[in-house]
This record gives sequence, C-alpha cells and structure tokens, in this order.
Amino acid sequence: MKKNILVTGGAGYIGSHTSVELINAGYNVIIVDNLINSDMEVIDRIKEITGTLPLFYQIDIRDEKALDEIFKINKIDAVIHFAGLKAVGESCINPVLYYDNNIMSTLVLLKVMKKYNVGTIVFSSSATVYGEPERLPLDEDCALNPNSPYGRSKLMIEQILKDIYSANKEMIVVVLRYFNPVGAHKSGLIGENPKGIPNNLTPYLAKVATGELSCVNVFGHDYNTPDKTGVRDYIHVCDLARGHVIAVEKLLSSGYYVYNLGTGRGYSVLEVIAAFERACNKTLPVKFTDRRPGDIASYYASPIKAEKELGFKAKYNLDDMCASLWNFMLTEKSRGK
Ligand code: NAD
Ligand code: WQD
Repeated sequence: MKKNILVTGGAGYIGSHTSVELINAGYNVIIVDNLINSDMEVIDRIKEITGTLPLFYQIDIRDEKALDEIFKINKIDAVIHFAGLKAVGESCINPVLYYDNNIMSTLVLLKVMKKYNVGTIVFSSSATVYGEPERLPLDEDCALNPNSPYGRSKLMIEQILKDIYSANKEMIVVVLRYFNPVGAHKSGLIGENPKGIPNNLTPYLAKVATGELSCVNVFGHDYNTPDKTGVRDYIHVCDLARGHVIAVEKLLSSGYYVYNLGTGRGYSVLEVIAAFERACNKTLPVKFTDRRPGDIASYYASPIKAEKELGFKAKYNLDDMCASLWNFMLTEKSRGK
C-alpha cells in the first residue's frame, strides 16, 4: 500500500519540488502550509507535473487543533518538515517572529506526532548551523556556531529532535543540512520567484536578467578566495528533493541521522554570474559593493557521508541549475507573473 507522507511547508520552494519527487516515487503526499511565503497555485502545478493532486490543508502548524484534525483523518506514515521562515536578515530584525514560528511549529508538530504514534521525521536544517567554518569542506562533525537567530532556530530544533530521539529510541529522526539550493523543476512550472527584492544571489540574477532589477551587486571583492568573491556550494533543488526521497526510503531503522546535502564543489559569485549569463544569453550589469555583514568567505560541504550511507550524489551542475532557473523565469513571464 502507498505510504502517506505529510509535507509541512509543501507549497514552498523546496517542499513543492520534494512533493513532486515523492509523488513520482509512489507516495501519497499530504501538504500542510499556511501560504505565508507561497501560493495556492503551486498545488495545481504539482498536479500539472505529476498528474496527481496532493491533499492540501491551509493551516498554520502552530494551530494544534487544526493539525490534530489532519492526523486524525489521515494515517500519516512519516513527516517531512519544511515549514519555517528562512530570511537571515529578517530574523536579526525580528528574532521573536523566527523563534515563535520555527520552534513553536516544530513543538506542536512533535506533540501531535507523538499522540498519533508517528515515529519518522525528516527535518530541513541548514548549513548555516555551522557558522564560521571550523574547517573546509564542512563535514557533519564540524563545530556548530550559527550567527543569526534564523540559524540558531535551526540548531535549537536539531537539539530538540535529538532529545526527542533520546526519549524514544524507536523513532527515525533525520536532519538534512542543505547548502545553497537553486534552480527549478525542468517543466518551469515550479521554482523560486520571491516577491520584492530577493535576498539570495540566483533569484536576484534572474530579476536582473528579466529587467526587473538594474544590476547585480557583488557583495565584497576582497575575500580570501581565488577571485576574491564569496564561494558557496550550490545544489540543484531537484537533487535536494531526491535526497529527501532517498532518506525516507533508506533510513528504515530507528536512529538519529544527520547529513549534509551539497555537491562538495564551491563556486564563486563571479562564476555564478558567468553561468547565469550563459543560461540567459545576456551580459548582466555588475557592480562591486561592500561585503554584506555576516557573510562568510567560503562555505562548501563534504558530501561524503550522504554518499556513503545513503548513496546520494548530486547529478546536476551549475549550468543545469542556472538554465532551469531561467526556464522557470520565462515560464513565469509567459504566465504574467
Ligand atoms: P519557503 O519559504 O519557500 O517554504 C517554506 C514554506 O513553509 C512556505 O510555503 C511557508 O508558507 C510555509 N510556512 C512557514 N511557516 C509556516 C507555519 N507556521 N505553518 C505552516 N506553513 C508555514 O522556503 P524553502 O526555501 O522551501 O525552505 C524550506 C525549508 O528549508 C525551511 O525550513 C528553510 O529554513 C530550510 N532551508 C532553506 C534553504 C534555502 O536556501 N532555501 C537552505 C537551507 C534550509
Ligand atoms: C550567496 C553568495 C553573497 C546576493 C543564504 C542563507 C543560508 C541558506 C542559504 C537557509 C554570497 C553573494 C548574494 C547578492 C551577492 N538559507 N551575493 N549579491 O548567504 O550563502 O546563504 O541562503 O538556510 O542560511 O544565509 O546565500 O544566495 O544570499 O549568497 O554578491 O545580491 O552571493 O555575498 O557570497 P548565502 P546567498
């Protein structure tokens, strides 16, 4: 019988791509999302891609009564927990919002999971939990020292999950630390098109390429990196999504597991700009500006543990990521977005 996976935040960027992969792998997907940072249309687009309309509940997962009702009606086999706020800068301005949303929602979720005896959870953590790298590449045993309320909310949730596992060793708890997810589904129907001015590099580049923004600001040109700009480990969102399906399929014995999901390869800001220019076949205006406060010079994963234990290896390269994002932007434009 098909397993039922509850996907919190499933209308969002990574959750929607993971929902597609799960449906394609034969799972029933039940999405809960309050749409604070996503659109109802995404649910229809998941159907357009997969031919299956996932069950969707528009709720805030801090609403225990509403969440309880969903667990009562549906037999849930496992939870993938994406729901959360994720903007580093906003979390510094409004930490209470981040702690309330990210931590409270997880606590309510864990309470309801316990009540209904659901023992499997995969959690969206972030490479940001490492903070200033102790060593590179970053492996799962590196020191954890996040430098923002957002990052600390992720680390606190990891700690809560560890305690929950210690108290119930029959659980399967999987923490996935994503590096920099970029790109979009090949259909161009789902992707990331943030409202307003994007915080992240590739959505910003995409808006410069469409003419919505005038030029790319390169934050810092004096880092200790080969071309003096920041280096990151960008991973295609579809590779990341596949990583979740592998985690659900392979980790069937109880345990507390932590994996990096990255490619292991770092690219500089200038390399990303060049790749995006190839994808959209345009030259993008570039301005060198001061460093962005809090930014780290170089950040990339050791992907070895996920490869050895899960058999997970990213398939797509930076050109694939940029081409898929550009394809998504063109599809968005053609839909009047
Ligand atoms: P996203 O904002 O696109 O998706 C998150 C979804 O959660 C949104 O649809 C939002 O409406 C929903 N949501 C937020 N709070 C909720 C609540 N209280 N109740 C119900 N729904 C709620 O973000 P994303 O990029 O898809 O990220 C998904 C997860 O991965 C987040 O937890 C994020 O912290 C983590 N993560 C993201 C990145 C990244 O760069 N995108 C990197 C590392 C980790
Ligand atoms: C990448 C590089 C910038 C924008 C963030 C979060 C992290 C995780 C992923 C959630 C850096 C440079 C950027 C621009 C630029 N999210 N840059 N001009 O900062 O590595 O990670 O998203 O967990 O927690 O911090 O990603 O895309 O913002 O930046 O030069 O307009 O591009 O300085 O070197 P970052 P990013």
